[in-house]
Amino acid sequence: MVRELQKYDITVLHAVERLMKRYQWVPFDILRQNTGFSETELQYRLGRLMAQDLLKSSSVPYPGYQLVFSGYDTLALLALTGKGTVSMLGSMIGEGKEAVVYEGLGFGPVALKFHRVGQRSFQTARKNRDYMPESGHCPWIFASSYSARKEFDALTRLYPDVNVPVPVDINRNVVVMSFIDGFTLNRCILEAPGDILESILDQITVAYRHGIVHGDLSEYNVMADARDCYIIDWPQWIPSDHPNAGEILRRDVENIVMYFHRKYGIRYPVEEVMSRVIG
Ligand SMILES: Nc1ncnc2c1ncn2[C@@H]1O[C@H](COP(=O)(O)OP(=O)(O)OP(=O)(O)O)[C@@H](O)[C@H]1O
Ligand SMILES: [Mg+2]
Repeated sequence: MVRELQKYDITVLHAVERLMKRYQWVPFDILRQNTGFSETELQYRLGRLMAQDLLKSSSVPYPGYQLVFSGYDTLALLALTGKGTVSMLGSMIGEGKEAVVYEGLGFGPVALKFHRVGQRSFQTARKNRDYMPESGHCPWIFASSYSARKEFDALTRLYPDVNVPVPVDINRNVVVMSFIDGFTLNRCILEAPGDILESILDQITVAYRHGIVHGDLSEYNVMADARDCYIIDWPQWIPSDHPNAGEILRRDVENIVMYFHRKYGIRYPVEEVMSRVIG
């Protein structure tokens, strides 16, 4: 889709994005003024973009247009390919509640994480349009790019002292990072589980010293390859000096320790880990 978009399609997409800061539904006439396109040209471009599900339209409260997630993703991909940090998009490798991950190619193999936060609340908000501010900011655009930014910040602060994917680039709601050629812990049987557990607890400790508590740590957010393990999925991190940091750290540690106990029979006292991390 990114390859097939024409210059004028992209002009319209950018204009809708810009104007969504001021209008919940960007009026046709405002788009015309902004792009300088004729009525027929603009109709044609909007039609193409809607046929590709990059925009949607509404006739109430007035005829207007809005970006949807795939349109926002497309703008991010255009920027990333323009800069050369991404040259190819491969297949989907993960889908969670608030993100979709694809493999891709940049200078080397990369993972592209498309953050998609606020979709559900956005849809309910749309149904109850009365409750939205009239010239509304778009909550899902804000929430998704914020989530991506937060994850990227954690990666840049932690890499290379903690085993995390190498942060490569960020645009809008998309984080580009190095591709880890491995599996999440729930999907593999470790040969040396004790060593991997030690390594994870070390990573938690170093992250804590760098001021970061993961906040969503579990076997689903640790990947292992042939050599080592890596902690992924950082958008919900909290600062180590946050009032709830201790409680959230304990939950992270418990999730990991209990998982290794259940699956490999390894016992590790949570208290011991806590004083090792905090001490
Ligand atoms: N850098 C990476 N290299 C290889 N695979 C990755 C990478 N990052 C993520 N993945 C894959 O994508 C899946 C989902 O990624 P991640 O855990 O970051 O997001 P998520 O769980 O979908 O998000 P959320 O927690 O918001 O639901 C992972 O389980 C993993 O299989
Ligand atoms: Mg995850």
